[in-house]
Amino acid sequence: MIYLDNAATTMMKPSCVVDAVTAALTTLGNASRGAHEGALNTNRLLYKTREKLAGFFGCPKSEQVIFTNNSTEALNIALTGTLRPGDHAVTTVLEHNSVLRPLYRLQRERVVDLSFVPADRRGCVDYADFERLVRPNTRAVVCTHASNLTGNLLDIRRIGEIAARRGLLFIVDASQTAGAVPIDMVDMGVSMLCFTGHKSMMGPQGTGGLLINGDIEVEPFKVGGTGVQSFLTEQPREYPTRLEAGTLNGHGIAGLSAAVDFIRQTGIDAIRAHETALARRFYEAASAVPGVVTYGDFTTWERCPVVALNIGGADSALVCDALSCDYGIATRAGAHCAPLMHRALHTEAQGAVRFSFGYFNTDADVDAAVRAVREIADRIG
Ligand code: ALA
Repeated sequence: MIYLDNAATTMMKPSCVVDAVTAALTTLGNASRGAHEGALNTNRLLYKTREKLAGFFGCPKSEQVIFTNNSTEALNIALTGTLRPGDHAVTTVLEHNSVLRPLYRLQRERVVDLSFVPADRRGCVDYADFERLVRPNTRAVVCTHASNLTGNLLDIRRIGEIAARRGLLFIVDASQTAGAVPIDMVDMGVSMLCFTGHKSMMGPQGTGGLLINGDIEVEPFKVGGTGVQSFLTEQPREYPTRLEAGTLNGHGIAGLSAAVDFIRQTGIDAIRAHETALARRFYEAASAVPGVVTYGDFTTWERCPVVALNIGGADSALVCDALSCDYGIATRAGAHCAPLMHRALHTEAQGAVRFSFGYFNTDADVDAAVRAVREIADRIG
């Protein structure tokens, strides 16, 4: 299989991640639930990994690195834990359902009001809209760092400046960028960063986190066992315990920890340069094929290594199936859980075929994908 669905999850993982998970499976006890060597191994792992992630994302306090199962869980905690009845939030049409659905639920249940920054036909925003949409009761700006459909990056520093100037929380969905694009929460003015471990971080599925920059009171989304203060009827208030009820995914976190080491040793800039070169090679050849329409802003390569396209009027699911069944090429079709982005691009009915490149892809993978697109376009045309 030629795997070009890295924006959904990176399927090829560094061998150090595989080794770390394998070793963890027979060496980790339950953190904070014992003082024997197995439990202490896990306590040490969690402490070390919090420190590593805090350094990696520029979060000032490692105890404010909260482990979650994915970015969806991190976003649910961040949004549900901070937005109160009568608040207003500014978000964008680029968002994934992991942002939209928690916000829509808050809109229904807590009467949180929402405003959406629109996008043009290339999926680009006008940054002045973030400022324009702020109201007296706005509490947060919530946005993705990059569209999972087009790969367009948002200028997080610029939005962070607006949020800081207006005294707003700035909650960022870094699902598509963590591990692929350098992020520094303090420098970029990010209050809460939500990331997943299984995409560009190259860690296991079931890992991710919420990083909190500053003194922000986040109410727990779930409550339960913590291994400490067992006689309290309420969830303990101190971070990270406040937001981490239940046994953590220690085995996955061991893999995530090794993945951060891999990215640091390889260099995020080297990873980014390789992935961008692959996406660019693909875009330049595929977009020249008659009948191919691409989506996104390709006037800059300050973007994620994603190219979404359609071939003529063909249903994206049929093209995706042809790529998979006839050429062994894995991509993702349909709506990509990004309904408002598809609406802005006028692709609700057709969807789009998304090719997304990862560190372990090669030029040969790209060339095979271009040949396949050409042949399918010939067949359709
Ligand atoms: N959010 C993931 C994607 O974009 C699953 O495919």
